[in-house]
Amino acid sequence: MLRYTGIAQALHWLTAAALCLLLPFVWVAENFPPGPVRVFWYMAHESMGISVWLMVLMRLTWRWRHRAPGYPAGTGRVAEGLARLTHGLLYGLLLVMPVTGYLMAGNGQDVPFFRVLNLPGFPHQEALGIAADSVHVWCQFALYGLIALHVAGTVWHVAVRRDGLLERMLPPQRPL
Ligand code: HEM
Ligand code: HEM
Repeated sequence: MLRYTGIAQALHWLTAAALCLLLPFVWVAENFPPGPVRVFWYMAHESMGISVWLMVLMRLTWRWRHRAPGYPAGTGRVAEGLARLTHGLLYGLLLVMPVTGYLMAGNGQDVPFFRVLNLPGFPHQEALGIAADSVHVWCQFALYGLIALHVAGTVWHVAVRRDGLLERMLPPQRPL
């Protein structure tokens, strides 16, 4: 069976894991009053978000040279089109969200990356901060919807069609 390459698989699962962490990080941050704990969890959210952005850029660069394996036989054209659209929108959102995050976080101050690197901020611009905030906050709902659709599609392939779609995103399994 044709699979995604090891690099594509690793980046896929690392991105998914990073998202599973960065979302709770910001929920925790927002529930603390202003102070060092809140600053810490925002820093963790922002650094993880920047990492997701870098991973998506790496994925797309890799994907450009290594085509995705074809869909299992019997996958309908509508299902395939929907999957491609979902993937494209996911990539797009995961590129836009870190940029809008940076436009908020770097608005008038530097952005610490895991407290090891200080990424440069830019002069404060009120309107830009408000616009970036709206896009960032609203995009989260599109992201939740797309991830739900993506996972539901995978579950459908695994549980109903049983056509080996998930195996394409996993290393070969050794028989027990
Ligand atoms: C794929 C990456 C990212 C995702 C999925 C994401 C998601 C989110 C979510 C769900 C929220 C909560 C919004 C709400 O209040 O309801 C949020 C808030 C925030 N994020 Fe991100 N984020 C990402 C990357 C970043 C990056 C890279 C930065 C900064 C460098 C950043 C900075 C912020 C800030 C400052 C807030 C607070 C906004 C507010 O209180 O209105 N985010 N993010
Ligand atoms: C939570 C964040 C996730 C994101 C952002 C995400 C994103 C993506 C993207 C963009 C692709 C297309 C890869 C390409 O062709 O370039 C993909 C493929 C795939 N993902 Fe995810 N994924 C996530 C989670 C999951 C989970 C939890 C599962 C398993 C239940 C999963 C299973 C798969 C499978 C099987 C493929 C290959 C399917 C195909 O080619 O249609 N993903 N994912």
